[in-house]
Amino acid sequence: MKIMMMRVARSLINGGSSSTSSSIRNFNRHISMSVIPARSLVTGSSFNPVDDFFLAKRIMTMMKMSTVSSSSSPAKTTSLTEEKNELKVKKDQSNAMVSSYWGVPRQRITREDGTEWPWNCFMPWETYAADLSIDLSKHHVPKTFADKVAYRTVKLLRIPTDLFFKRRYGCRAMMLETVAAVPGMVGGVLLHLRSLRKFEQSGGWIKALLEEAENERMHLMTMVELVQPKWYERLLVLAVQGVFFNAYFVLYVLSPKLAHRVVGYLEEEAIHSYTEYLKDLNEGRIENVSAPAIAIDYWRLPKDATLKDVITVIRADEAHHRDVNHFASDIHFQGKELKESPAPVGYH
Ligand SMILES: [Fe+2]
Ligand SMILES: [Fe+2]
Repeated sequence: MKIMMMRVARSLINGGSSSTSSSIRNFNRHISMSVIPARSLVTGSSFNPVDDFFLAKRIMTMMKMSTVSSSSSPAKTTSLTEEKNELKVKKDQSNAMVSSYWGVPRQRITREDGTEWPWNCFMPWETYAADLSIDLSKHHVPKTFADKVAYRTVKLLRIPTDLFFKRRYGCRAMMLETVAAVPGMVGGVLLHLRSLRKFEQSGGWIKALLEEAENERMHLMTMVELVQPKWYERLLVLAVQGVFFNAYFVLYVLSPKLAHRVVGYLEEEAIHSYTEYLKDLNEGRIENVSAPAIAIDYWRLPKDATLKDVITVIRADEAHHRDVNHFASDIHFQGKELKESPAPVGYH
């Protein structure tokens, strides 16, 4: 078999004489059955029926092309063109497979108006219209010692933020969103691990906290469309993330009630910052540009929405995060576990 393959290969290289053509024709009759084990024996590789099937098909096509090229009749030239087209189609199909889910074609996703859905990072069923009726002025008055620690910590953290960003609210929001998306993920991961360890449900809190993290990340994806981070801001994010992720992780392990309270107060500060941002937009200190396309789709905003609309819906989201985290902290303060109270899943 090995000798036969070498003869075939030689005949292909030499362009195919009449005697080799007959041997090719004979070989053609057997190739579909014999080439598969032959390859496995020659290469010593493991048998893969899919790969070997396509290898056999390719060799057969090459043989046909070689036979056709030795003739100059127009009918055979047409056949060669068809073969080439067929190969091209197969190549295109194999390329298309890369973007499919391992052979399963991706479902066509459209907007409500039938236009193609342009985002891979979120899907139409994850979008929502923000609840703008939420009370923005709610504040949790710190009563216990832990509350006061949380409140003072957040107020202390605000000082360097104010000094660094001043009234550059676009930049400030972008940088703070890189931090804001961390607590939900840390809490979600720790509750997930707890659920596995203790063989118990989380009461929906894993999902609620991961939703918060994702929502915050979408704030960042929106802000980054409006403000491009400079190299030193990227560096700052690296440092802050390194410190904040670990600090929050340790805090959540030691005291989830304090961790959620800190986030509750951070969200109150975020509402304040976005209110100031809106004030600058209203007074014309910041240009009210068009809303980024990603924001229009994510919050189901009208096509002519502006930055003001985007900041308004983000601020409403922050108010929801404030409520979720103060609620979570309150549950712990009552000496209960989160799973005992239904989680605010889908609460935006
Ligand atoms: Fe946010
Ligand atoms: Fe938030």
